[in-house]
Amino acid sequence: MNPQKKLRDWYLLHKRDLPFRKKKQAYPIWISEVMLQQTRVAAMLPLFENFVNRFPNPESLAKATEEEVLSFWKGLGYYSRARNIRKAAIQIVQQYNGSFPKDLDSVLKLPGIGNYTARAILSISYDLPLAVLDGNVKRVLSRYYGYTKNILGPQAEKELQLKADGFLNLDFPGDHNQAVMELGATICLPESPKCLVCPLMDGCYARIHGKTKEIPLREKKQKQVLLTGEIWVIQQKNLILLIKEKKNRFLKGMFHLPSGFLGEIPNSDYAPSPFFHSVQSEYKETPSKGKFKHTITYHKLEYSVHLVNLKEPNQIQSLLAGNDLESKWVEVSDLESEFPSSLAKKVKKILLY
Ligand code: ADE
Repeated sequence: MNPQKKLRDWYLLHKRDLPFRKKKQAYPIWISEVMLQQTRVAAMLPLFENFVNRFPNPESLAKATEEEVLSFWKGLGYYSRARNIRKAAIQIVQQYNGSFPKDLDSVLKLPGIGNYTARAILSISYDLPLAVLDGNVKRVLSRYYGYTKNILGPQAEKELQLKADGFLNLDFPGDHNQAVMELGATICLPESPKCLVCPLMDGCYARIHGKTKEIPLREKKQKQVLLTGEIWVIQQKNLILLIKEKKNRFLKGMFHLPSGFLGEIPNSDYAPSPFFHSVQSEYKETPSKGKFKHTITYHKLEYSVHLVNLKEPNQIQSLLAGNDLESKWVEVSDLESEFPSSLAKKVKKILLY
């Protein structure tokens, strides 16, 4: 038996008896799907019944005041959902004679209806072959197919939608979509999924490989860290000073131009070295030659570049002494090979080397 059939058989046997599953009608299915966007089934059920009793079709909703519609949404939160439902009902009455549209493009134009909701309504009420993708479905599909990448973000959305499309039961799209969601809600749980009673256990990658804890991977987008810093080009004739430090958030263990961050820093890993501080105070009159931006993973850096032309050959030695660092002088023309970073390139551009 193919997995789609096993899944549907399971669904028909075990599905929860929910009021919005009684009739294949777009209107109540629409209302229930919008309520379920941010509210759990148990919490929305009593309000759902009240709502569709008072507003049994788009006409009644379109005629009601916003205030009254909101009063029937009380307790559900996210009240813009109710405002959008009323606006959409008015549009349905005006443009579609009061009956819910039957194609994806028209439905997506209604206020408050996104990809998931449009596909859910059209597949459940009209059996259109449109696979849904919500949080539960992402969990089920990523485990089943062994999608080990991050499931958050636009790339996963695209790739998992393709998996959902391929997994769709074309004979019963509405049952199938609800079955996957139901499986996610009752069996394929985030923690301790009930694999032994799952209709998809035979072909499930995560169960077979013991990876239900690792899949789905949910990596929140790293917050950007903004840093401002200074780079000091200390020059003696055509030689430039490079240093190598044991402690440096980005450049430890490699020769680099002396630099440091200013102002607020995330933690002490980003703290400027004592050598940087002494260069800063020794040459504080030196104006900036220019600024450039630089990105390192989630760090957005902005450096100003300062140039010191040493008259006295050994002027800097006293600043270097006593600091836990190595130093060397390199030819201007060798800067990029000695400090192989795009930072060197950007500095050169500013100093017109
Ligand atoms: N969550 C949102 N809509 C659902 C549906 N139709 N069936 C099961 N879970 C859902």
